[in-house]
Amino acid sequence: MGKVYNISKNVGLGLLVLGVSAAVTIIGLSIAYDKQRAKTQGKPGDEASTGSTSIPSTTPFTPKDPWDYYRLPDSLVPLTYNVTLWPRLKPDADNMYIFTGHSSVVFRCKKETDLILIHANNLNFTMYGGNHAKLSGRGEAAAPAIRSTWLVVRTQYLVVQLSSKLAVGKSYELYTEFRGELADDLEGFYRSEYMDDGVKKVLATSQMQATYARKAFPCFDEPAMKANFSVTIIHERNTIALSNGKEIDSSESIRENVPVTVTTFEPTPKMSTYILAFVVCEFSYIQSNSSNLLIRIWARRKALNDGQGNYALTITGAILQFYERYYNATYPLSKSDQIALPDFNAGAMENWGLVTYRETALLYDSNLSSTGNKERVATVISHELAHMWFGNLVTLQWWNDLWLNEGFASYVEYLGVDYVEPTWNIKDYIILYDVQKVFAIDALASSHPLSCKEEEVNMPAQISEMFNAISYNKGAAVLRMLSEFLSEPVFAKGLSSYLNEFAYNNTVHTDLWGHLQQAVADTPDLHIPCTVHDIMNRWTLQMGFPVVTINTTTGGVSQKHFLLDPDSKVDRLSQFNYTWFVPIKWMKNGVDQQQYWLLNKTDTHAQMRVSGQEWVLANTNVSGYFRVNYDAENWERLLSQLDTSHQALSVMNRAQIIDDAFNLARAKIIPTALALRTTEYLSKERDYIPWASALRNLQYYTLMFDRTEVYGPLQAYLKKQIKPLFEYFETLTANWTKTPIEHTDQYNQINAVWVACRTGVESCRKQVSSWFRQWMGSPDHNPIPSDLKATVYCSAISLGGVEEWDFAWKMFQNASLASEASRLRSAMACTKTPWLLNRYLEYTLDPNKIRKQDATSTIQSIANNVIGMPLAWNFVRAKWSYIFQQYGRGSFSFSNLINGITVRFSTEFELQELKKFKEENLHVGFGSATMALEQAIEKTTANIKWVTENKAEVLNWFTEQTVK
Ligand SMILES: *[C@@H]1O[C@H](CO)[C@@H](O)[C@H](O)[C@H]1NC(C)=O
Ligand SMILES: *[C@@H]1O[C@H](CO)[C@@H](O)[C@H](O)[C@H]1NC(C)=O
Ligand SMILES: *[C@@H]1O[C@H](CO)[C@@H](O)[C@H](O)[C@H]1NC(C)=O
Ligand SMILES: *[C@@H]1O[C@H](CO)[C@@H](O)[C@H](O)[C@H]1NC(C)=O
Repeated sequence: MGKVYNISKNVGLGLLVLGVSAAVTIIGLSIAYDKQRAKTQGKPGDEASTGSTSIPSTTPFTPKDPWDYYRLPDSLVPLTYNVTLWPRLKPDADNMYIFTGHSSVVFRCKKETDLILIHANNLNFTMYGGNHAKLSGRGEAAAPAIRSTWLVVRTQYLVVQLSSKLAVGKSYELYTEFRGELADDLEGFYRSEYMDDGVKKVLATSQMQATYARKAFPCFDEPAMKANFSVTIIHERNTIALSNGKEIDSSESIRENVPVTVTTFEPTPKMSTYILAFVVCEFSYIQSNSSNLLIRIWARRKALNDGQGNYALTITGAILQFYERYYNATYPLSKSDQIALPDFNAGAMENWGLVTYRETALLYDSNLSSTGNKERVATVISHELAHMWFGNLVTLQWWNDLWLNEGFASYVEYLGVDYVEPTWNIKDYIILYDVQKVFAIDALASSHPLSCKEEEVNMPAQISEMFNAISYNKGAAVLRMLSEFLSEPVFAKGLSSYLNEFAYNNTVHTDLWGHLQQAVADTPDLHIPCTVHDIMNRWTLQMGFPVVTINTTTGGVSQKHFLLDPDSKVDRLSQFNYTWFVPIKWMKNGVDQQQYWLLNKTDTHAQMRVSGQEWVLANTNVSGYFRVNYDAENWERLLSQLDTSHQALSVMNRAQIIDDAFNLARAKIIPTALALRTTEYLSKERDYIPWASALRNLQYYTLMFDRTEVYGPLQAYLKKQIKPLFEYFETLTANWTKTPIEHTDQYNQINAVWVACRTGVESCRKQVSSWFRQWMGSPDHNPIPSDLKATVYCSAISLGGVEEWDFAWKMFQNASLASEASRLRSAMACTKTPWLLNRYLEYTLDPNKIRKQDATSTIQSIANNVIGMPLAWNFVRAKWSYIFQQYGRGSFSFSNLINGITVRFSTEFELQELKKFKEENLHVGFGSATMALEQAIEKTTANIKWVTENKAEVLNWFTEQTVK
């Protein structure tokens, strides 16, 4: 799945904050996951579970029968399915949207059994003589009679009890007919609605990962239960149907007195159920034939007519070719469809041959969209297409190894984008989007290892919880480190032989280590200190990462588990005692030195001893997943290097010095003032990545102090630092009439405008207000440069009043480009007028005003605003039972809500309020935000402490800087 929290990527600083809170969510999730795991260890299924929210049952449940366990027994393996589905896009007499279907699955018996367990959830079955299914033998096998059948809601099975045993080695066919609801729940086979030229349209689509295929038809719904699927879809004549395979036949027919089209699809190769997809809609498409492969982009007709699919179409063929070469394996299917859906929970989903996307992740308008939108489209496409081989062709055995699947795609997505957009230097951005982001989470005592044991992940809720930042972002960071010390060609070679050996099959993560080890063995001049397996175990089986301390006076090098809160206690034991095998690339005075491996807690590396003005910088280009600290003298020399000529260091290292310093200060390893001093050189910095890193770290100061007397001096300092950058862009863009050419400039001008307007640079405020006024004067001609829209909308609405707000609301409702709607939706949360914020909060309760998929993130944007925060907090408390009932299940967004609201909490009073909120709503519950709430309480406590300890020093420092 594409990252849900992909939205945080570079859509401007305002949304960067969202990124931070999204990251915080993951903490909540990962803890929830640990607690549940502790509860269920050794006892799969001692909690009632429906969908993705698990509610502890009041009486402990001890599984005894096979259907009490969440995992399928290994007695049967599916071979082929024939599935026919008919979604109704009009409500029935009971005003319900439904689908009907029938399916037959041929399976082979591997171990003698008189029981068939097959997943089914929320399906109503046609009964045959009191049974839910019919069984027949294949070939000469005779089928035993069915004694009885029943459904198990908790573990989501259809159980078929036979009167005698199935024979080992023989095949049988199970036939079922069923109906299900085509709900708007974004899970399984579901419906989505949208407006097309003022007319409401309904479409049917699907999201199977991780455990929802069983909501569409009965199936052995585990990733290792691969089979061939032959799909037939019955649909109204004005619609088209899509699935994983190419359509091979389409005929007109009459069913139940309705004229319909029956479309059949070419049988799929052997594949897992979670990457199946079905769509019925009125979309149109654009296509290209690149190297005989049919590539199509599907979307709303109007979006395609506006050219919004063109960019995706252009890059898809090139990215597929890149991966074919990179993996040394041809694209395994006969077509590639990608479709943009108006309602979609994740960012995107890698269904084999039919990838589904949110509109903002696939559609791009060259006139109206921003560079950030374009980058997002390229990145998400590259991520999903990487899965066509890694994940879909070769699939991990079970969800406990999800980190390898998602971490891998999150790493190679950069390579794919770099291939189609070589001028972007996109590979550098992994520092911001993955490494620094997950450092923040993985530095907590409550983090968890990348890899966990197969038996620790059973229930659907536990599986959902694997989709977190540790899996995606740390997975990417650690695999990048691996590829860096093996070198990219060796990494790719191991990968290719892995994919070839396990095509259409399943693996565990050690299979990949084995193939990489072989590639190392085949490369005579490559030396690593021990096996890939032994090195990687230290990064995947224990949580966290080290801070490496280098004493440049003595040459001493040491490592220590880095914890953001030095007083926090680590409960989890590690077989490696929290030491790592650390590959250290480093430089002396700007000259690269030979890579050094730190294999123990402490060591001496004489080459790292320096004197005079010489400096050492370790973790060149942040190729390793660790932080670095130095002796005070080396810190001073690095600061002076930044001050005199920062270009001697790469943008990644400039960004990392800042990020390391701020985090080392939070952990009380270096003084807060030293961290703040890393931002002094910024008045000369023009590059995006270091700026983004600094602003992200200073954001914590803003959140902690924007309601205190520190805020004035902090703003004054920021204003002083940003002004040269603002003026630089004013000149570069000839007074904002031209678009900067460089990718980094296109982004950094956003920071410049955002911070300059917020801190009161007068020419900035004039510029944004005048742009917005012009636009209000002629709504068909938006004069604002696309890249600056998000930040200009927000600034102008923040400086303006009801007129600006109402205009934005009107434009939001009329926006036909999803990313434009999303910008406006965030910007409307920027107003400083309380009644407008309250009215906006009310709008989130009405799905006709704010889509359900966007409701919690809208409340979160409002909470982000210092004036909106208390309003959102009151609102959420007042409407908790409603909000819980609507959004309490599953997804990231719900815990984001709690995190978003509490991100500023740093007073005793707020802590008490939070605890009271918990008490008062225990009877309603907190669903998937349960642990986010616990985390919020913990974080508020930590914030109170940090503010107490640092406020005076911080106030002092900022004050001194501005009188200088
Ligand atoms: C599926 O349909 C095909 C073609 O109609 C048929 O040959 C095959 O036997 C069917 N398989 C199952 C499992 O019913
Ligand atoms: C399935 O059956 C239940 C119980 O009779 C009923 O409430 C539900 O509406 C049915 N669902 C569909 C899709 O027909
Ligand atoms: C690519 O695959 C071919 C055929 O499978 C093989 O002979 C060749 O060595 C592979 N190349 C690399 C670089 O792995
Ligand atoms: C799949 O992999 C397993 C384990 O490596 C192997 O035993 C099996 O033969 C493979 N199956 C196929 C169809 O290649």
